[in-house]
Amino acid sequence: MNRLNSSSATITKICVRDANKPRDFQIDSSITQVVTDVSSILNDDSIDLVVEVAGGTTFAKDAVFAALKGGKSVVTANKALIAEYLDEIVKLVDEVNADKSKKAVKFGYEASVCGGIPIIHTLQSAYKGDIINEVSGICNGTTNFMLGKMEDGADYDDVLKEAQDLGFAEADPTADVAGHDVRAKIAILAKLAFGITVPIDTIPCIGITEISVVDFAYAKSMGCTIKLVGTAVRQSEFGEHDGALSVYVSPKLVPLNHLLASATGCGNAVAVDSSNLGTASFTGPGAGRYATANSVVADTMRVVNDTCPSSPFPMLSSSIDIDNDFVSAFYIRISFQDGLGIIRSVGDLAESQGVSIHSILQQPITDRMAADTVVTTEACKYSQVKALCELIEKEDFALSAPVFFPMISDY
Ligand SMILES: NC(=O)c1ccc[n+]([C@@H]2O[C@H](COP(=O)([O-])OP(=O)(O)OC[C@H]3O[C@@H](n4cnc5c(N)ncnc54)[C@H](OP(=O)(O)O)[C@@H]3O)[C@@H](O)[C@H]2O)c1
Repeated sequence: MNRLNSSSATITKICVRDANKPRDFQIDSSITQVVTDVSSILNDDSIDLVVEVAGGTTFAKDAVFAALKGGKSVVTANKALIAEYLDEIVKLVDEVNADKSKKAVKFGYEASVCGGIPIIHTLQSAYKGDIINEVSGICNGTTNFMLGKMEDGADYDDVLKEAQDLGFAEADPTADVAGHDVRAKIAILAKLAFGITVPIDTIPCIGITEISVVDFAYAKSMGCTIKLVGTAVRQSEFGEHDGALSVYVSPKLVPLNHLLASATGCGNAVAVDSSNLGTASFTGPGAGRYATANSVVADTMRVVNDTCPSSPFPMLSSSIDIDNDFVSAFYIRISFQDGLGIIRSVGDLAESQGVSIHSILQQPITDRMAADTVVTTEACKYSQVKALCELIEKEDFALSAPVFFPMISDY
Protein backbone atom coordinates (compact mmCIF):
# COMPACT_ATOMS: atom_id res chain seq x y z
CA MET A 1 0.00 0.00 0.00
CA ASN A 2 2.82 2.36 0.89
CA ARG A 3 4.59 1.52 -2.38
CA LEU A 4 1.45 2.38 -4.33
CA ASN A 5 0.65 5.51 -2.36
CA SER A 6 4.16 6.81 -2.95
CA SER A 7 3.83 6.29 -6.71
CA SER A 8 1.44 7.97 -9.10
CA ALA A 9 -1.40 5.81 -7.71
CA THR A 10 -3.25 6.67 -4.53
CA ILE A 11 -5.45 4.26 -2.61
CA THR A 12 -8.31 6.51 -1.64
CA LYS A 13 -10.82 3.93 -0.38
CA ILE A 14 -10.74 0.38 0.98
CA CYS A 15 -14.03 -1.50 1.27
CA VAL A 16 -14.28 -4.22 3.95
CA ARG A 17 -17.12 -6.04 5.68
CA ASP A 18 -16.17 -4.88 9.15
CA ALA A 19 -14.47 -1.48 9.45
CA ASN A 20 -13.80 -2.03 13.16
CA LYS A 21 -11.91 -5.30 12.78
CA PRO A 22 -8.36 -4.95 14.11
CA ARG A 23 -5.84 -4.93 11.23
CA ASP A 24 -2.12 -5.63 11.52
CA PHE A 25 -1.14 -2.70 9.29
CA GLN A 26 -1.46 1.07 9.46
CA ILE A 27 -3.73 3.10 7.23
CA ASP A 28 -3.06 6.81 6.78
CA SER A 29 -6.61 8.13 7.20
CA SER A 30 -5.65 11.46 5.64
CA ILE A 31 -5.17 9.57 2.35
CA THR A 32 -7.20 6.37 2.58
CA GLN A 33 -10.75 5.99 3.83
CA VAL A 34 -12.09 2.62 5.04
CA VAL A 35 -15.68 2.06 3.90
CA THR A 36 -18.19 -0.78 4.11
CA ASP A 37 -20.42 0.20 1.20
CA VAL A 38 -18.87 -0.67 -2.13
CA SER A 39 -21.11 1.79 -3.98
CA SER A 40 -19.09 4.60 -2.42
CA ILE A 41 -16.22 3.31 -4.57
CA LEU A 42 -18.23 2.39 -7.65
CA ASN A 43 -20.02 5.76 -7.73
CA ASP A 44 -16.87 7.80 -7.11
CA ASP A 45 -15.79 9.30 -10.44
CA SER A 46 -12.36 10.19 -9.06
CA ILE A 47 -11.55 6.45 -8.74
CA ASP A 48 -10.35 4.88 -11.97
CA LEU A 49 -9.14 1.48 -10.75
CA VAL A 50 -10.76 -1.09 -8.45
CA VAL A 51 -8.77 -3.93 -6.86
CA GLU A 52 -11.08 -6.84 -6.00
CA VAL A 53 -9.72 -9.27 -3.40
CA ALA A 54 -13.00 -10.08 -1.66
CA GLY A 55 -13.38 -13.49 -3.31
CA GLY A 56 -16.48 -15.44 -4.31
CA THR A 57 -18.74 -15.02 -7.31
CA THR A 58 -21.62 -12.96 -5.94
CA PHE A 59 -20.57 -9.70 -4.25
CA ALA A 60 -17.27 -9.75 -6.17
CA LYS A 61 -19.00 -10.31 -9.51
CA ASP A 62 -21.38 -7.39 -8.98
CA ALA A 63 -18.49 -5.14 -7.93
CA VAL A 64 -16.19 -6.14 -10.82
CA PHE A 65 -18.85 -5.90 -13.51
CA ALA A 66 -20.15 -2.58 -12.17
CA ALA A 67 -16.61 -1.18 -12.02
CA LEU A 68 -15.85 -2.16 -15.64
CA LYS A 69 -19.23 -0.84 -16.86
CA GLY A 70 -18.46 2.40 -15.04
CA GLY A 71 -15.18 2.78 -16.93
CA LYS A 72 -12.91 1.70 -14.07
CA SER A 73 -10.05 -0.73 -14.62
CA VAL A 74 -10.05 -3.84 -12.45
CA VAL A 75 -7.28 -5.87 -10.82
CA THR A 76 -8.42 -9.10 -9.22
CA ALA A 77 -7.07 -12.25 -7.58
CA ASN A 78 -10.37 -14.09 -8.05
CA LYS A 79 -9.86 -17.23 -10.19
CA ALA A 80 -13.33 -18.57 -9.40
CA LEU A 81 -14.95 -15.43 -10.81
CA ILE A 82 -12.74 -15.30 -13.92
CA ALA A 83 -13.12 -19.00 -14.74
CA GLU A 84 -16.90 -18.91 -14.36
CA TYR A 85 -17.50 -15.62 -16.20
CA LEU A 86 -14.56 -15.63 -18.58
CA ASP A 87 -16.43 -14.86 -21.81
CA GLU A 88 -18.67 -12.28 -20.13
CA ILE A 89 -15.62 -10.44 -18.75
CA VAL A 90 -13.86 -10.41 -22.14
CA LYS A 91 -17.07 -9.22 -23.86
CA LEU A 92 -17.64 -6.48 -21.29
CA VAL A 93 -14.05 -5.18 -21.54
CA ASP A 94 -14.39 -5.12 -25.36
CA GLU A 95 -17.76 -3.36 -25.21
CA VAL A 96 -16.55 -0.69 -22.79
CA ASN A 97 -13.38 -0.15 -24.81
CA ALA A 98 -15.29 0.15 -28.09
CA ASP A 99 -16.06 3.74 -27.09
CA LYS A 100 -12.75 5.28 -28.16
CA SER A 101 -13.68 8.68 -26.73
CA LYS A 102 -13.13 7.28 -23.23
CA LYS A 103 -10.01 5.96 -21.54
CA ALA A 104 -9.73 2.19 -22.10
CA VAL A 105 -10.34 -0.05 -19.10
CA LYS A 106 -7.78 -2.76 -18.25
CA PHE A 107 -8.29 -6.05 -16.48
CA GLY A 108 -5.34 -7.49 -14.52
CA TYR A 109 -5.51 -10.91 -12.88
CA GLU A 110 -1.92 -12.07 -12.29
CA ALA A 111 -2.68 -13.10 -8.68
CA SER A 112 -5.52 -15.40 -9.71
CA VAL A 113 -3.31 -18.31 -10.83
CA CYS A 114 -0.22 -19.43 -8.92
CA GLY A 115 -0.29 -16.22 -6.80
CA GLY A 116 3.41 -15.35 -6.83
CA ILE A 117 4.47 -16.82 -10.20
CA PRO A 118 4.12 -14.34 -13.07
CA ILE A 119 2.58 -16.94 -15.37
CA ILE A 120 -0.32 -14.80 -16.64
CA HIS A 121 1.92 -12.08 -18.04
CA THR A 122 4.30 -14.67 -19.42
CA LEU A 123 1.49 -16.34 -21.36
CA GLN A 124 0.05 -12.95 -22.42
CA SER A 125 3.31 -11.72 -23.88
CA ALA A 126 6.19 -14.20 -24.19
CA TYR A 127 4.51 -16.74 -26.48
CA LYS A 128 3.21 -14.41 -29.19
CA GLY A 129 5.53 -15.92 -31.82
CA ASP A 130 5.21 -19.48 -30.59
CA ILE A 131 2.65 -22.27 -30.58
CA ILE A 132 1.83 -23.77 -27.20
CA ASN A 133 1.24 -27.50 -27.14
CA GLU A 134 0.64 -28.07 -23.45
CA VAL A 135 0.32 -26.17 -20.18
CA SER A 136 0.31 -28.19 -17.02
CA GLY A 137 0.64 -27.05 -13.47
CA ILE A 138 0.65 -27.72 -9.80
CA CYS A 139 -1.54 -24.77 -8.95
CA ASN A 140 -2.78 -25.56 -5.44
CA GLY A 141 -0.36 -25.22 -2.55
CA THR A 142 -2.66 -26.89 0.01
CA THR A 143 -2.91 -30.18 -1.84
CA ASN A 144 0.78 -30.07 -2.75
CA PHE A 145 1.60 -29.70 0.94
CA MET A 146 -0.72 -32.61 1.80
CA LEU A 147 0.65 -34.90 -0.90
CA GLY A 148 4.21 -34.09 0.20
CA LYS A 149 3.38 -35.17 3.77
CA MET A 150 1.69 -38.33 2.48
CA GLU A 151 4.82 -39.12 0.48
CA ASP A 152 6.64 -39.05 3.84
CA GLY A 153 4.15 -41.58 5.25
CA ALA A 154 1.37 -39.46 6.81
CA ASP A 155 -2.28 -40.51 6.50
CA TYR A 156 -4.70 -38.39 4.47
CA ASP A 157 -6.93 -37.52 7.46
CA ASP A 158 -3.97 -36.56 9.67
CA VAL A 159 -2.39 -34.42 7.01
CA LEU A 160 -5.68 -32.68 6.20
CA LYS A 161 -6.04 -31.79 9.89
CA GLU A 162 -2.45 -30.50 9.97
CA ALA A 163 -3.12 -28.36 6.89
CA GLN A 164 -6.26 -26.96 8.57
CA ASP A 165 -4.41 -26.29 11.85
CA LEU A 166 -1.69 -24.44 9.94
CA GLY A 167 -4.32 -22.35 8.13
CA PHE A 168 -3.44 -23.80 4.69
CA ALA A 169 -6.77 -25.61 4.30
CA GLU A 170 -10.26 -24.24 4.88
CA ALA A 171 -12.65 -25.83 7.42
CA ASP A 172 -14.49 -27.08 4.31
CA PRO A 173 -11.54 -28.24 2.20
CA THR A 174 -13.61 -29.39 -0.80
CA ALA A 175 -12.46 -26.68 -3.21
CA ASP A 176 -8.85 -27.73 -2.69
CA VAL A 177 -8.98 -31.52 -2.23
CA ALA A 178 -11.66 -32.13 -4.89
CA GLY A 179 -9.57 -30.18 -7.43
CA HIS A 180 -12.12 -27.37 -8.03
CA ASP A 181 -9.55 -24.65 -7.33
CA VAL A 182 -7.14 -26.14 -9.87
CA ARG A 183 -10.00 -26.56 -12.37
CA ALA A 184 -10.68 -22.80 -12.33
CA LYS A 185 -6.97 -22.06 -12.77
CA ILE A 186 -6.38 -24.48 -15.63
CA ALA A 187 -9.46 -23.07 -17.42
CA ILE A 188 -7.80 -19.62 -17.24
CA LEU A 189 -4.43 -20.96 -18.42
CA ALA A 190 -6.13 -22.86 -21.29
CA LYS A 191 -7.84 -19.67 -22.45
CA LEU A 192 -4.52 -17.82 -22.38
CA ALA A 193 -2.53 -20.56 -24.11
CA PHE A 194 -5.05 -21.74 -26.71
CA GLY A 195 -7.64 -18.97 -27.02
CA ILE A 196 -10.38 -21.45 -26.07
CA THR A 197 -12.99 -21.05 -23.33
CA VAL A 198 -13.55 -24.43 -21.71
CA PRO A 199 -16.68 -24.36 -19.50
CA ILE A 200 -15.47 -25.39 -16.05
CA ASP A 201 -18.31 -27.84 -15.50
CA THR A 202 -17.14 -29.85 -18.53
CA ILE A 203 -13.58 -30.28 -17.21
CA PRO A 204 -13.01 -33.77 -15.74
CA CYS A 205 -11.86 -33.22 -12.18
CA ILE A 206 -10.43 -35.91 -9.93
CA GLY A 207 -9.19 -34.73 -6.55
CA ILE A 208 -6.82 -36.29 -4.05
CA THR A 209 -9.34 -37.82 -1.64
CA GLU A 210 -8.78 -41.38 -2.86
CA ILE A 211 -4.98 -41.21 -2.76
CA SER A 212 -3.37 -43.15 0.06
CA VAL A 213 0.13 -43.84 1.34
CA VAL A 214 0.08 -47.16 -0.51
CA ASP A 215 -0.04 -45.23 -3.81
CA PHE A 216 3.12 -43.41 -2.77
CA ALA A 217 4.82 -46.75 -2.04
CA TYR A 218 4.01 -47.95 -5.57
CA ALA A 219 4.97 -44.56 -7.03
CA LYS A 220 8.32 -44.72 -5.26
CA SER A 221 8.98 -48.20 -6.64
CA MET A 222 8.51 -46.71 -10.12
CA GLY A 223 10.82 -43.72 -9.43
CA CYS A 224 7.83 -41.37 -9.29
CA THR A 225 5.78 -39.21 -6.95
CA ILE A 226 2.13 -38.12 -7.07
CA LYS A 227 1.05 -34.52 -7.73
CA LEU A 228 -2.33 -32.89 -8.33
CA VAL A 229 -1.96 -31.46 -11.82
CA GLY A 230 -4.14 -29.29 -14.03
CA THR A 231 -3.47 -30.08 -17.67
CA ALA A 232 -4.42 -28.41 -20.94
CA VAL A 233 -2.92 -30.28 -23.88
CA ARG A 234 -3.48 -30.53 -27.59
CA GLN A 235 -3.72 -34.18 -28.52
CA SER A 236 -1.76 -35.55 -31.45
CA GLU A 237 -3.98 -36.81 -34.26
CA PHE A 238 -2.05 -36.70 -37.54
CA GLY A 239 1.15 -35.10 -36.29
CA GLU A 240 2.55 -33.55 -33.13
CA HIS A 241 -0.11 -31.72 -31.09
CA ASP A 242 -2.41 -31.03 -34.06
CA GLY A 243 -5.58 -32.46 -32.53
CA ALA A 244 -8.30 -31.48 -30.11
CA LEU A 245 -7.65 -29.70 -26.82
CA SER A 246 -8.07 -31.75 -23.64
CA VAL A 247 -8.34 -30.01 -20.29
CA TYR A 248 -8.51 -31.96 -17.05
CA VAL A 249 -7.53 -32.02 -13.38
CA SER A 250 -6.23 -35.17 -11.77
CA PRO A 251 -3.58 -36.62 -9.54
CA LYS A 252 -0.70 -37.65 -11.79
CA LEU A 253 2.15 -40.06 -11.39
CA VAL A 254 5.17 -37.80 -12.01
CA PRO A 255 8.74 -39.08 -12.49
CA LEU A 256 11.02 -37.74 -9.74
CA ASN A 257 13.27 -36.11 -12.35
CA HIS A 258 10.36 -34.28 -14.01
CA LEU A 259 10.27 -30.55 -13.36
CA LEU A 260 6.76 -30.74 -11.87
CA ALA A 261 8.20 -32.96 -9.13
CA SER A 262 10.34 -30.03 -7.99
CA ALA A 263 7.39 -28.17 -6.44
CA THR A 264 7.50 -29.11 -2.77
CA GLY A 265 5.56 -27.96 0.29
CA CYS A 266 3.03 -25.27 -0.64
CA GLY A 267 4.99 -24.44 -3.79
CA ASN A 268 3.48 -24.22 -7.26
CA ALA A 269 4.97 -25.08 -10.66
CA VAL A 270 3.81 -24.60 -14.23
CA ALA A 271 5.32 -26.28 -17.29
CA VAL A 272 4.70 -24.85 -20.75
CA ASP A 273 5.56 -26.95 -23.78
CA SER A 274 5.76 -25.02 -27.03
CA SER A 275 7.03 -25.49 -30.56
CA ASN A 276 9.90 -22.96 -30.36
CA LEU A 277 10.96 -23.20 -26.71
CA GLY A 278 10.35 -26.84 -25.90
CA THR A 279 9.50 -27.11 -22.23
CA ALA A 280 9.91 -24.06 -19.98
CA SER A 281 9.05 -24.22 -16.32
CA PHE A 282 8.06 -21.66 -13.72
CA THR A 283 8.13 -22.39 -10.02
CA GLY A 284 7.44 -20.31 -6.93
CA PRO A 285 4.96 -19.50 -4.18
CA GLY A 286 1.36 -20.14 -5.19
CA ALA A 287 -0.35 -18.13 -2.50
CA GLY A 288 0.24 -16.25 0.73
CA ARG A 289 0.00 -12.68 1.77
CA TYR A 290 3.11 -11.17 0.20
CA ALA A 291 3.28 -13.32 -2.94
CA THR A 292 -0.33 -12.55 -3.81
CA ALA A 293 0.00 -8.88 -2.90
CA ASN A 294 3.11 -8.67 -5.08
CA SER A 295 1.14 -9.78 -8.12
CA VAL A 296 -1.76 -7.44 -7.29
CA VAL A 297 0.59 -4.46 -6.90
CA ALA A 298 2.47 -5.36 -10.11
CA ASP A 299 -0.84 -5.46 -12.02
CA THR A 300 -1.92 -2.17 -10.48
CA MET A 301 1.34 -0.53 -11.53
CA ARG A 302 0.90 -1.87 -15.06
CA VAL A 303 -2.54 -0.27 -15.26
CA VAL A 304 -1.16 2.98 -13.84
CA ASN A 305 1.79 2.94 -16.25
CA ASP A 306 -0.44 1.86 -19.16
CA THR A 307 1.57 -1.30 -19.83
CA CYS A 308 -1.26 -3.74 -19.07
CA PRO A 309 -2.43 -5.57 -22.25
CA SER A 310 -5.56 -3.98 -23.70
CA SER A 311 -7.22 -7.38 -23.95
CA PRO A 312 -7.00 -9.68 -20.89
CA PHE A 313 -6.80 -12.74 -23.15
CA PRO A 314 -4.79 -11.50 -26.13
CA MET A 315 -4.88 -14.73 -28.12
CA LEU A 316 -7.68 -14.64 -30.69
CA SER A 317 -10.36 -17.26 -30.26
CA SER A 318 -9.43 -20.31 -32.28
CA SER A 319 -11.45 -23.15 -33.69
CA ILE A 320 -9.64 -26.01 -31.96
CA ASP A 321 -12.09 -28.73 -30.90
CA ILE A 322 -12.37 -29.62 -27.22
CA ASP A 323 -12.18 -33.31 -26.35
CA ASN A 324 -11.80 -33.91 -22.64
CA ASP A 325 -11.65 -37.69 -23.13
CA PHE A 326 -7.89 -37.33 -22.90
CA VAL A 327 -5.24 -39.87 -23.87
CA SER A 328 -2.56 -40.94 -21.41
CA ALA A 329 -0.87 -43.90 -19.83
CA PHE A 330 -2.69 -44.70 -16.58
CA TYR A 331 -1.95 -46.02 -13.10
CA ILE A 332 -4.70 -48.29 -11.68
CA ARG A 333 -4.65 -49.59 -8.09
CA ILE A 334 -6.97 -52.52 -7.46
CA SER A 335 -7.83 -53.53 -3.88
CA PHE A 336 -8.85 -57.18 -3.72
CA GLN A 337 -9.49 -60.25 -1.64
CA ASP A 338 -6.90 -62.78 -2.74
CA GLY A 339 -7.90 -65.74 -4.87
CA LEU A 340 -7.02 -67.59 -8.04
CA GLY A 341 -7.16 -65.99 -11.50
CA ILE A 342 -7.41 -62.32 -10.49
CA ILE A 343 -4.65 -61.10 -12.77
CA ARG A 344 -6.10 -63.15 -15.63
CA SER A 345 -9.55 -61.59 -15.04
CA VAL A 346 -8.08 -58.09 -15.01
CA GLY A 347 -6.19 -58.89 -18.23
CA ASP A 348 -9.40 -60.16 -19.91
CA LEU A 349 -11.34 -57.08 -18.84
CA ALA A 350 -8.53 -54.79 -20.07
CA GLU A 351 -8.58 -56.56 -23.44
CA SER A 352 -12.37 -56.19 -23.63
CA GLN A 353 -11.95 -52.39 -23.33
CA GLY A 354 -9.00 -52.18 -25.73
CA VAL A 355 -6.63 -51.26 -22.90
CA SER A 356 -3.09 -52.57 -23.26
CA ILE A 357 -1.35 -53.35 -19.96
CA HIS A 358 2.18 -52.01 -19.64
CA SER A 359 3.15 -53.45 -16.24
CA ILE A 360 1.77 -55.19 -13.17
CA LEU A 361 3.22 -54.45 -9.74
CA GLN A 362 2.37 -56.10 -6.49
CA GLN A 363 3.90 -55.80 -3.06
CA PRO A 364 4.10 -59.24 -1.32
CA ILE A 365 0.66 -60.10 0.07
CA THR A 366 0.55 -59.96 3.88
CA ASP A 367 -3.25 -60.02 4.29
CA ARG A 368 -5.12 -62.28 1.85
CA MET A 369 -8.41 -60.55 2.74
CA ALA A 370 -7.17 -57.07 1.83
CA ALA A 371 -4.40 -56.88 -0.76
CA ASP A 372 -3.68 -54.56 -3.63
CA THR A 373 -2.01 -54.62 -6.99
CA VAL A 374 -1.15 -51.90 -9.47
CA VAL A 375 -1.58 -52.11 -13.22
CA THR A 376 -0.10 -49.47 -15.52
CA THR A 377 -1.43 -49.12 -19.03
CA GLU A 378 -0.12 -48.07 -22.41
CA ALA A 379 -1.59 -44.82 -23.74
CA CYS A 380 -5.37 -45.06 -23.98
CA LYS A 381 -8.42 -42.86 -23.49
CA TYR A 382 -9.70 -41.82 -20.08
CA SER A 383 -13.12 -43.30 -20.98
CA GLN A 384 -11.55 -46.70 -21.69
CA VAL A 385 -9.84 -46.84 -18.29
CA LYS A 386 -12.95 -45.59 -16.54
CA ALA A 387 -15.02 -48.34 -18.19
CA LEU A 388 -12.36 -50.92 -17.27
CA CYS A 389 -12.36 -49.82 -13.62
CA GLU A 390 -16.18 -49.98 -13.50
CA LEU A 391 -16.00 -53.59 -14.72
CA ILE A 392 -13.25 -54.48 -12.23
CA GLU A 393 -15.33 -53.04 -9.38
CA LYS A 394 -18.14 -55.50 -10.23
CA GLU A 395 -15.86 -58.54 -9.87
CA ASP A 396 -16.26 -60.64 -6.69
CA PHE A 397 -12.61 -60.15 -5.74
CA ALA A 398 -12.78 -56.32 -5.80
CA LEU A 399 -13.01 -54.66 -2.39
CA SER A 400 -13.72 -51.17 -3.74
CA ALA A 401 -13.65 -49.11 -6.90
CA PRO A 402 -10.11 -49.10 -8.34
CA VAL A 403 -8.16 -45.87 -7.92
CA PHE A 404 -6.89 -44.65 -11.27
CA PHE A 405 -5.15 -41.59 -12.60
CA PRO A 406 -2.90 -40.60 -15.52
CA MET A 407 0.87 -40.83 -15.45
CA ILE A 408 3.55 -38.77 -17.15
CA SER A 409 5.39 -41.35 -19.22
CA ASP A 410 7.13 -41.72 -22.54
CA TYR A 411 5.03 -44.69 -23.63
N1 LIG B 1 -5.08 -15.75 0.26
C1 LIG B 1 -4.27 -16.04 -0.76
O1 LIG B 1 -3.11 -16.42 -0.58
C2 LIG B 1 -4.78 -15.89 -2.16
C3 LIG B 1 -3.94 -16.21 -3.25
C4 LIG B 1 -4.39 -16.02 -4.55
C5 LIG B 1 -5.68 -15.57 -4.76
N2 LIG B 1 -6.49 -15.30 -3.68
C6 LIG B 1 -7.86 -14.85 -3.96
O2 LIG B 1 -8.08 -13.62 -3.25
C7 LIG B 1 -9.46 -13.51 -2.92
C8 LIG B 1 -9.57 -13.25 -1.42
O3 LIG B 1 -9.07 -14.33 -0.69
P1 LIG B 1 -8.56 -14.15 0.82
O4 LIG B 1 -8.11 -15.47 1.26
O5 LIG B 1 -7.60 -13.01 0.90
O6 LIG B 1 -9.95 -13.77 1.54
P2 LIG B 1 -10.20 -13.06 2.94
O7 LIG B 1 -9.01 -13.21 3.83
O8 LIG B 1 -11.53 -13.54 3.39
O9 LIG B 1 -10.29 -11.50 2.59
C9 LIG B 1 -11.42 -10.99 1.92
C10 LIG B 1 -11.48 -9.47 2.17
O10 LIG B 1 -12.59 -8.96 1.44
C11 LIG B 1 -13.48 -8.28 2.34
N3 LIG B 1 -14.86 -8.63 1.94
C12 LIG B 1 -15.33 -9.86 1.65
N4 LIG B 1 -16.63 -9.80 1.31
C13 LIG B 1 -16.98 -8.49 1.42
C14 LIG B 1 -18.20 -7.78 1.21
N5 LIG B 1 -19.33 -8.40 0.86
N6 LIG B 1 -18.20 -6.44 1.40
C15 LIG B 1 -17.06 -5.80 1.75
N7 LIG B 1 -15.88 -6.42 1.96
C16 LIG B 1 -15.85 -7.76 1.80
C17 LIG B 1 -13.18 -8.82 3.73
O11 LIG B 1 -13.49 -7.83 4.70
P3 LIG B 1 -13.25 -8.09 6.29
O12 LIG B 1 -11.76 -8.08 6.46
O13 LIG B 1 -13.92 -6.96 6.98
O14 LIG B 1 -13.87 -9.43 6.59
C18 LIG B 1 -11.67 -9.10 3.64
O15 LIG B 1 -10.93 -7.93 3.91
C19 LIG B 1 -10.11 -14.81 -3.38
O16 LIG B 1 -10.67 -14.61 -4.66
C20 LIG B 1 -8.95 -15.77 -3.47
O17 LIG B 1 -9.17 -16.82 -4.40
C21 LIG B 1 -6.07 -15.44 -2.40
